[in-house]
This record gives sequence, C-alpha cells and structure tokens, in this order.
Amino acid sequence: MSNIIPEISPEKAQNFRKKMLNWYAKHRRVLPWRTLPEDDTAPDPYQVWLSEIMLQQTTVNAVIPYFVKFTEKWPSVHDLAYAENEEVMENWAGLGYYARARNLHKCAKVVSEDYNGVFPDDEPLLKTLPGIGDYTGAAIRSIAFNKPSTVVDGNVERVFSRYFALEKPLPDVKKDIKTIAATFSKNYEDQPANYAQALMDLGATICTPKSPACVLCPISQDCIGYAQGQAEKYPIKAIKKKVPKRYGYAYIITDGDYIILEKRPEKGLLGGMYGVPTTEWEDNKNTLSHSSEFKRIPDTHNQKIEHVFTHFHLTLEVYITDLTNCSQSFQGIKRIHKNDLKKFGLPTVFKKVINTIN
Ligand code: ADE
Repeated sequence: MSNIIPEISPEKAQNFRKKMLNWYAKHRRVLPWRTLPEDDTAPDPYQVWLSEIMLQQTTVNAVIPYFVKFTEKWPSVHDLAYAENEEVMENWAGLGYYARARNLHKCAKVVSEDYNGVFPDDEPLLKTLPGIGDYTGAAIRSIAFNKPSTVVDGNVERVFSRYFALEKPLPDVKKDIKTIAATFSKNYEDQPANYAQALMDLGATICTPKSPACVLCPISQDCIGYAQGQAEKYPIKAIKKKVPKRYGYAYIITDGDYIILEKRPEKGLLGGMYGVPTTEWEDNKNTLSHSSEFKRIPDTHNQKIEHVFTHFHLTLEVYITDLTNCSQSFQGIKRIHKNDLKKFGLPTVFKKVINTIN
C-alpha cells in the first residue's frame, strides 16, 4: 500500500517545530558531545563529527565510553590525525564496523591537512570527506553549525512514519520520509541544532520501537498512528531476508601465558584489526578442513562461539594448540601476554573465542 505524501502547510510545520523545541528545552538528554543550554557555547565540530561517526549503527550507551576515551586521548582533530593508525584501531576495538575507524582516521588527516583543522559547514563539501554520507553530513551541519538541514536517522523515521501513519513498508518508505522531513526543516532558521536533536531524542526516549510513551509525547495530538491506536505498528517492517550462515575454525595458540594474535588483511571485514588466527569463513561447514595439530578444546568449555555481523551469522569452532610446538605460519603475528589482552583492543568476536578457555 502506498501513501501519497501529505500536504504540509508552513503553519503546520511551524507548529510542529514549536512543540518539538519546547519539549526539547525541558527533556533533552545530557550527552558528553552536547553543550548545556546554560553554557551558551556552540559545540566543538570535531566532537560532533566524532560522535556522529561512532553513533552510526551503534547505541548511545555503547558510544559514550568510547567518545570519552577518544576525546581524552585526542582532544583535537590534529591530535587524532597525527595518531598511529594501529592505536586508533586498537582504541576502536569492540565498537564494531571497523571501516568507520579507518575512515575516521583518514577524515581527520584530510581535515587537519587540507582544512587547517576546521570542519566545513557546507553539506556537499562535508560529504566529500571519508566516512561522511547524507545522514552524517546533515547531522554535522545542523548540530555543529546550527544551520538548517534534514537529518533523518532511524529515530526520526519512526517519528514521521507514525505521525503520518505511512503504510509503505521499509525500506521504500525512507524516501517519502526524507521528503516529509525536509518540508519540516528546510528554510527554518529557528534553532536547527535543537530541532534536529529534539527529533532524535523524542525517537529514542518517547517514540520508542516498542511500547511508545504516547501519553508523554508533545505531538501525539496530531499523530495519526496514535489516533488510530496503533502507533507501534509503524514504520511497517520490511519482509525479513534469511541471514546467511558462515563457518570457520578459530585457533587459540598458547603456552598458557602468551597467545598468538594475527593482523587481519587491511581490506575486508575487521580489516587491519588483530585477532586470533582463523580459517577462511565459508558457507558450507562440510568443506572446512585444518591441520590435525589443532585439538578441540576440552568439552568442559564452550567449543564454539556465535557472532552476528550485519550480513551474516558466524559460527567459529574453537581449537587449541601449544605455542611452543606450533608449526603453522601466520601473517603479522604478535605474542601477547594473557594479562595484557584486556588493554589490547580486540574485536568482540575474538574476545568471545578467547573467553571460551577462561
Ligand atoms: N544518534 C545519532 N546522533 C545522535 C545525537 N547527536 N544525539 C543523540 N542520538 C544520536
């Protein structure tokens, strides 16, 4: 079923924005990348950019400790640009989607060298920078520079799809939502930064995916989804595709104190990160094979781990061998003492493997 994009008069848009801004003045979330209203200062574009990259596909709660760590270690875009890539990757470990960290470092170098450390406020120019797409370009322009821009993330999609009870399912409805959102944001000079963040906060705290708190919502009076008593139904979900499965072996090569980590190829999933050696990850577990020197870990332990990536579900069977007798050769290895593993940033999938023997 398809909706016709609703007519939105300038008065309706103004009224909606006013309600959102009033609500935000009272209920805004305090987050480390935001300034407080009483500070009366603009946020640091470096911090806004950093937070927006970290928040891509990641929750606010997961991001906060990483944001604090990065800004303590690298207080300016120049500091981050001069950091060793390996250190940036290690500090990102656990946050996932590692291409973001590679682009983050590349972007810091471009802004530091070509822009003298000053982020541009122009959306097309922002989008030429590594790792900045439509959403992040719009978010930086509105939040860091307080300039009108159409910021649409999953939270904002939920708010508008309910407000207008949009029957078109995801992902097709996204384009309509962008058009609708633009009519509410384009050409409105009144507090663009607060308006963008008001929509995000409303989506995150009131207009939640499950059991939205409609009685507390500042715009429920005009929300068609609410009037129909079925706000939660929107946005209409896409039909779920089956997630493909992949399989592999993971190796704990250890003498009890030290463990071998291998640097993964720069290109590809978890590129440039360290992890325990593994076989290729294959679609068919029956075609997997490996050297008989690897032994199954004792069955008092978890002998396999599961990890969900965006596009597939991975099962790794965990095998162990003695470091002193291991005849296999691996690329770019490090011997790490087990006590140093915590501070050595490892992607979650490899932490799960190592935890099988703990
Ligand atoms: N999600 C993405 N960007 C955000 C922001 N600036 N504040 C809160 N949640 C967000």
